[in-house]
Amino acid sequence: MNFKATVITNVEVSPGYFRLRLTAPQFFVTAASPGQFVMVRVSASIDPLLRRPFGIFDVGVMATEYPDVQQPFLDILYKVVGKGTAMLAGFHHGDQMEVLGPLGKGFGTGEPSEGKVLVGGGVGLAPLYYLARELVKESRVHLFAGGRGRDDVLCITEFERLGVETYVSTDDGTLGERGLVTEVLERYLANGTGAKTIYACGPFPMLKAVAEIAGRTGIPCQVSLEAYMACGVGACLGCVVKGRDHSEATPDYRCVCKDGPVFDHTELSWEQRL
Ligand SMILES: Cc1cc2nc3c(=O)[nH]c(=O)nc-3n(C[C@H](O)[C@H](O)[C@H](O)COP(=O)(O)OP(=O)(O)OC[C@H]3O[C@@H](n4cnc5c(N)ncnc54)[C@H](O)[C@@H]3O)c2cc1C
Ligand code: FES
Repeated sequence: MNFKATVITNVEVSPGYFRLRLTAPQFFVTAASPGQFVMVRVSASIDPLLRRPFGIFDVGVMATEYPDVQQPFLDILYKVVGKGTAMLAGFHHGDQMEVLGPLGKGFGTGEPSEGKVLVGGGVGLAPLYYLARELVKESRVHLFAGGRGRDDVLCITEFERLGVETYVSTDDGTLGERGLVTEVLERYLANGTGAKTIYACGPFPMLKAVAEIAGRTGIPCQVSLEAYMACGVGACLGCVVKGRDHSEATPDYRCVCKDGPVFDHTELSWEQRL
């Protein structure tokens, strides 16, 4: 579904990272599920032409200045990396933009359990917040959050407010433990903590390391991928990645926008660069 959204707030939550709250129709809030994404038109002109994909950070309804009126909303957490996201950072309260979504296949929440483990790298934490909010209703949730430095580890307090147990690491040691988030995860799993499912989102090398750990430990694992997207709905094949059975003779491609962005880690070939 395509709709016109109005900016409620667009706040820099950490240097170079913004949290954008948009009005959304009630049917969007009802239809959305964790791990799905939206395609946002960041400019009314033809430059940039293509919409930009962003995971759904949160959805809900909020109070307004009128006692009996509630406003459905959609939150996006984004990092400024280029032209489109720089334009997005310039949006203010009351500005409008076109949004297409919710799109794609999100996370499967599975059976309630004590061992739901989330792993997020940098802005890869974005789709994990909405997932955590759903999972904590019935499960105990642990979050492993990593980033280059303290400015890249986002919204940890929000996860903690949900009751999520958090473990933080940074490459430069400016927040939490110094080192890779996957090293902290491995140590945690080695303690026999009874993890039942791993959910991961972040840079491809991090996802590959998480998939290796899941393969070794036999813990089911879902990963959320990023790829360049033009249409977001399975029409242009611009976002394909190699599936696990891919070879020159028998190509096996998956569309990140339609078959994903969330995949079981066993569905994919990890011998590719994204
Ligand atoms: C399903 C999905 C969900 C996403 N969710 C989020 C999110 O929640 N928050 C967020 O900040 N970003 C998210 N992204 C990435 C986001 O779409 C890109 O950062 C954005 O499109 C960049 O637009 P730009 O015009 O600013 O950058 P451009 O000027 O187009 O490119 C700037 C730099 O970013 C890199 N880049 C651009 N697009 C992508 C992409 N799709 N994947 C990997 N690298 C890219 C380019 O290689 C280049 O180095 C998501 C991507 C996908 C596919
Ligand atoms: S972005 Fe067009 S097919 Fe996925």
